[in-house]
Amino acid sequence: MVDTEDHATQHRLALEALIRAEIKAAGGQLRFDRFMELALYAPGLGYYVAGTTKLGAAGDFVTAPEISPLFGRCLAVACREVLTALEAHPMHSRNTSTSTSTSTSTSTSTSTKNRKAKAGIGNGSLNRAAISSQSAELQASGTAPSSGADLLELGAGTGALAAELLASLAEQGPLPERYLILEPSPDLAERQRQTLSARVPALLERCHWLDRLPAQFDGIVIANEVLDAMPVNRFQIGNEGQIQEVCVGIDRDRDRDSNGDGDGERFIDRLSESASPALIQAVLALQSAGLATQPGYRSEINLRLAPWTQALGTMLGTGLILVIDYGYPRAERYLPERDQGTLMCHSRHQAHADPYRDIGLQDLTAHVDFTALAEAGRHAGLDLVGYTTQANFLIGCGIDALIAEAAATDPMAMLELTAGAKQLLLPSLMGERFQVLGLSKGLDELTLSGFSVRDLSARL
Ligand SMILES: C[S@@+](CC[C@H](N)C(=O)[O-])C[C@H]1O[C@@H](n2cnc3c(N)ncnc32)[C@H](O)[C@@H]1O
Repeated sequence: MVDTEDHATQHRLALEALIRAEIKAAGGQLRFDRFMELALYAPGLGYYVAGTTKLGAAGDFVTAPEISPLFGRCLAVACREVLTALEAHPMHSRNTSTSTSTSTSTSTSTSTKNRKAKAGIGNGSLNRAAISSQSAELQASGTAPSSGADLLELGAGTGALAAELLASLAEQGPLPERYLILEPSPDLAERQRQTLSARVPALLERCHWLDRLPAQFDGIVIANEVLDAMPVNRFQIGNEGQIQEVCVGIDRDRDRDSNGDGDGERFIDRLSESASPALIQAVLALQSAGLATQPGYRSEINLRLAPWTQALGTMLGTGLILVIDYGYPRAERYLPERDQGTLMCHSRHQAHADPYRDIGLQDLTAHVDFTALAEAGRHAGLDLVGYTTQANFLIGCGIDALIAEAAATDPMAMLELTAGAKQLLLPSLMGERFQVLGLSKGLDELTLSGFSVRDLSARL
């Protein structure tokens, strides 16, 4: 225990030293997005890239795929709808020429057509009974029915969602041709490989880890709790109504002087009167909608969201991007009473708002502005398929039926599944705090069951 704590302290001090050096080199302060980028992703030291447990009961926080397999099974319903639509789409053959930069790459030799013939699937009309009876055999041989389109998961955490999606799609088809994962954390990528090897060994050959987005992609992109981990910029409205940028500076700390921790220095907020032009423009846009106007109002803006969405839109030929995260439509995210913003830190299942505590050992997050995501999607040439709460989405995907189906074969599973469903669905837990937004390209007729219960797009 002492060794572990010593190791954690060394890790924190090394990352703090790196950030302090960058602040000093920059003349005394850093914009918050750069601080957050270093705290989370500095090579070898950032929270996500160093070897701490992070996700799960033994880590700092749990995500929906960790809470219950029902989350992945519901998303498999949505994936099935898209993969089936793509099968019928004339452009889906383009996928075979998709160019990727993979760090792990094995390819299947059986052609998609052959697999479909073997599994008895034609034109997206699934014979569920036939497929179920074949699934064990097919999964064991690694040649389950395949759709010809790919699935790309951004930031796959422990690999729990990937494993559940692949297992579900192997059972009822169609499988994605390849399951691509873009994961900036080498540590998490290794955990994902272990999870997939243990859970779906016969499907491992379909899994490929990327070090950047593919140039072209047809299929489904899933990002669960990725946007909240993207570095944000912070702003404050000054007494005269001016827009200030909340940067990170250094101050002397007598406590730290006396115990020799951190070279006697600590990180502090430093208000800059010269906010970046991009931040000023974004805050002015909020203010033109009557938001974030009162002196002292402080919040965050994710300036990286639009370029990220643009990159996905450029990459996507035909398919769907599904983003799930905690957040609000803009008018709610920047409510006057939310005047201290949404920046939160997660460590050992405790949440607090001090980003300068336990640097490198805690997650930093900010709520997503889903209106900004929908707007960025439109600018990137993407269509809004739907927007709703996680609870509505999972109910629309048939979470009740999935519980009943699982309980029919294993009554003992019922209790655990019901407890997991409560966490995923209850408004006070994840049901309403988490939202789902779908963006598509080239699939004009696409409707997803997940958005059928209550589409809240009008609130964006
Ligand atoms: C809060 S975790 C969520 C993990 C997983 N999706 C889940 O739901 O359990 C955030 C994940 O996003 C990854 N990540 C952060 N920025 C990313 C980016 N720009 N592209 C892809 N993944 C990213 C992190 O490394 C981590 O795996």
